[in-house]
Amino acid sequence: MNPPAMSKFYITTPIYYVNASPHIGHAYTSIIGDCLARYKRLAGEDVFYLTGTDEHGEKIKQAASSLNEDVEVFVDRVKENFKDLWKQLNISYDYFIRTTDPAHKKSVQDVIRILYDKGDIYKSKYQGFYCLPCETFWTGTQVKDSQGKCALCGRDVEEIEEENYFFRLSKYEQWLKDYLKKNPDFIQPKIRYNEVKGFLDNNTLSDLCISRPKTRVSWGIEFPLDKDYVVYVWFDALLNYISAVGFGVEKEKFNKWWPADIHFIGKDILRHHAIFWPIMLRALEVNLPRIIFAHGWWKIGQEKMSKSKGNIVNPLELIKDIPVDALRYFLLREIPLGSDGDFSRPAIVNRMNSDLANDLGNLVHRVLNMAEKYFQGDIDCDVEKIPVAFLDAFLSLRDNYPPFMDKMDFCAALDKIFSFIKTMNKYIEDTKPWTLWKENKIQEIKEFLYVLLEGIRISAVYLYPFMPQTAEEIYKRLGLSGTVSNLKDCQWAVRKTYSVTKETPLFPRIEDTAK
Ligand code: MSP
Repeated sequence: MNPPAMSKFYITTPIYYVNASPHIGHAYTSIIGDCLARYKRLAGEDVFYLTGTDEHGEKIKQAASSLNEDVEVFVDRVKENFKDLWKQLNISYDYFIRTTDPAHKKSVQDVIRILYDKGDIYKSKYQGFYCLPCETFWTGTQVKDSQGKCALCGRDVEEIEEENYFFRLSKYEQWLKDYLKKNPDFIQPKIRYNEVKGFLDNNTLSDLCISRPKTRVSWGIEFPLDKDYVVYVWFDALLNYISAVGFGVEKEKFNKWWPADIHFIGKDILRHHAIFWPIMLRALEVNLPRIIFAHGWWKIGQEKMSKSKGNIVNPLELIKDIPVDALRYFLLREIPLGSDGDFSRPAIVNRMNSDLANDLGNLVHRVLNMAEKYFQGDIDCDVEKIPVAFLDAFLSLRDNYPPFMDKMDFCAALDKIFSFIKTMNKYIEDTKPWTLWKENKIQEIKEFLYVLLEGIRISAVYLYPFMPQTAEEIYKRLGLSGTVSNLKDCQWAVRKTYSVTKETPLFPRIEDTAK
């Protein structure tokens, strides 16, 4: 009989602007996506994890000009910074899309033609205010409400009057309201769902201006109906999610992957994803993604970390002495997905010393040390029964981990893993193996170490989505061949023999908190 077909899981991150180098905020979205992608692969699903770069728009052109660099050379260079960082952070993406890719450009132009032919795009005069950094239009009232400044970034706006192309958002307003009512899990967490619903209840949607005259914005995808214009960057960027899987070109591929199972985004880009994007798809008569999940912000003090505030933390600097897995662990453990968090080096060091060096690192070191000392590293045993001392913690982890991971409650999943780890540490203290050794209870110590090795092996599988390098390192030290690859390996006593090596502690304790 053929094995059952794998179910597919399509995950996306936002595509990152290349006007600056990546920072911790960007790394956060990608690490979240990576954690889920690795978990889904462990669970046997066929995963497509998409990320990439958003390369058009005036602010990118300006960033290039400020360096006296040709814009094409500039975007080519800066996108490498993202790729390099993802490599260092072990982001296991399957495809990296760039909005300057010819295939993406073609998709965008095709979409505009389709929507124009349908009557959902029209040309009209626009009069109002414009924020260049945000590439966003504001009406007179909106600008007045935000003291004459851009309502998003607070910077000066420019008054403009020009002809442009518009997409009929308003036509689909009621449809979107109904859709949200029928699909309360479409936008997560709940607070963001309520935010979008509230916005729609209290505002009337205006049609979206989706072109920019080349006289003002020259760096973009040419508008297919009118060569004097380029496509608005957000309209261009959102379409990456379907162009990457072959929209309009590779039917089989598209049908396999679309709809996306989850779009991870930051809460600052919720409206684009929860209002523009569903309506664009509806107008194209394409299914909607299953979930849009908006995470919170990392702040420094009270401020969002961002290039414009000048308070960004460069992940490459940080990982010079903080292990990559400690950074991944911190970002996923410190705050539940959806909440804001305070980012600081002392907070990471604290987490690393307490959870990773003390709890996990100590457990692994102590057990492997004893295995080497008492049995030259070789333990073979067959204890089917899980010791009572950590049975509850193990069962609670085994039963709760998949549902927590499936609903992206990464904090809660980690909490279960570390409760299990702590229980194993307590088991060592309570059993006092050194006295057993003195009493020559060799078989007892062997069984004692065997169950701990099983516990450590299983913890490594559960930890893998969060800390892939550490999980693989634990596997190696346990003498296991192959890589961490399947959640089914979390069954108890599937391994009977171990041949372990102790090596140095998994995580160094860092004493200096200020740097
Ligand atoms: N290019 C658009 C996205 C287009 S998607 C079709 C964009 N790019 S961005 O580079 O500015 O931001 C990308 C992601 O990084 C967003 O999800 C944003 O929320 C996230 N972060 C940027 N700063 C952040 C923090 N300080 N904290 C957490 N995430 C933040 O927007």
